[in-house]
Amino acid sequence: MSDLFEETTLGDLVMPNRIVMAPMTRSRATADGMPTDLMAEYYAQRAGAGLIISEGVHPTQVGQGFLNTPGLHTQEQAQRWRSVTDAVHRAGGRIVVQLMHAGRIGHRSLYPSAHRSVAPSAIAAAGRCFTPAGMQPYEIPVALDAVGVERVVDGFVSASVLAIEAGFDGVEIHGGNGFLLHQFLAANTNLRDDAYGGDPERRAALPVAVMAAVADAIGPGRVGLRISPSNPYNDIVEEDLEQTYRPLLMQLPPIAFLHVLEAVAPAPTARIGELWSGPTIVNPRRSAPTGHWDPQAASIVDGDRVRAVVVGAAFLANPDLLERIRAGGPYNAADESTYYSGGAQGYVDYPSLMAVR
Ligand SMILES: Cc1cc2nc3c(=O)[nH]c(=O)nc-3n(C[C@H](O)[C@H](O)[C@H](O)COP(=O)(O)O)c2cc1C
Repeated sequence: MSDLFEETTLGDLVMPNRIVMAPMTRSRATADGMPTDLMAEYYAQRAGAGLIISEGVHPTQVGQGFLNTPGLHTQEQAQRWRSVTDAVHRAGGRIVVQLMHAGRIGHRSLYPSAHRSVAPSAIAAAGRCFTPAGMQPYEIPVALDAVGVERVVDGFVSASVLAIEAGFDGVEIHGGNGFLLHQFLAANTNLRDDAYGGDPERRAALPVAVMAAVADAIGPGRVGLRISPSNPYNDIVEEDLEQTYRPLLMQLPPIAFLHVLEAVAPAPTARIGELWSGPTIVNPRRSAPTGHWDPQAASIVDGDRVRAVVVGAAFLANPDLLERIRAGGPYNAADESTYYSGGAQGYVDYPSLMAVR
């Protein structure tokens, strides 16, 4: 185990410590996907992280999956993001944007044009979506045609270019948690029989194309990929991890980092290490109460391969998490009722240690 407070690098990113803030949707953007001043304050409060990964941000309008989540597909949004990245940098931090195309996880009432969500195949997800009119069942998405698939790649590229213009230190492409790229990877959501479906190699073709195109556009040293093998979230079924992930991992460009979310037990991190030897960061399964740091989580960092540990709820509830880890606690408990509630409460008002003592 290495020292969490030791410097490390992920591609072009230099991090003063090995604790990464996990991407967390907080639904504090405006209804039309504009970042707000409150968001700048929230992220700047957490600038002590070695790296902040932003909440999921839709790269195109049809990629939006939740209410009041921010986008990065217009110049205006990029300008607003500039206030967030400037605030983080002024506070001494680093931030990459998580580009998340939600695919079939969405609802037509989320979009002004009321269009339907898109996916590899026309299969509705089990479950319900939080919409302006309350909880609604997921709808049958439109299966992307060949032009639609190209548009997905273009959308990720344009958003990545805008991200760099907006001052982000890089981008993380979301390939997990049952969103669009995961829907292509998983056999139960991808019933295509073209170049983007049919066998594991072809199911990986779109995620591979996105990674190659984004790496080409902004440089591989500023690009990461998040995966969550076997995560059943959003109605995903993945049985053979090796078959599914081998083609993806073997064809990745030399990106800055692979981000593994250990969603299930036993954790697949060791097996993934056999297929990808580049820099890796891991969001481990934890046993600590929500909001508390789990000292066991540090043991995932092994020096050169697993370079940092990714922390979600504990960072949400403890803006000064690093000082608290150094001090051995105490920790604020996370208030789940304010995760997506909008407003300042449960967002920028978690007390720091200084305020507690
Ligand atoms: C409020 C909340 C929002 C989340 N939103 C996202 C998201 O936008 N993108 C993503 O990849 N994961 C998201 N996650 C999952 C976290 O990144 C992380 O994997 C999860 O919280 C487990 O880590 P932890 O035990 O340290 O909290 C979210 C989690 C929480 C608690």
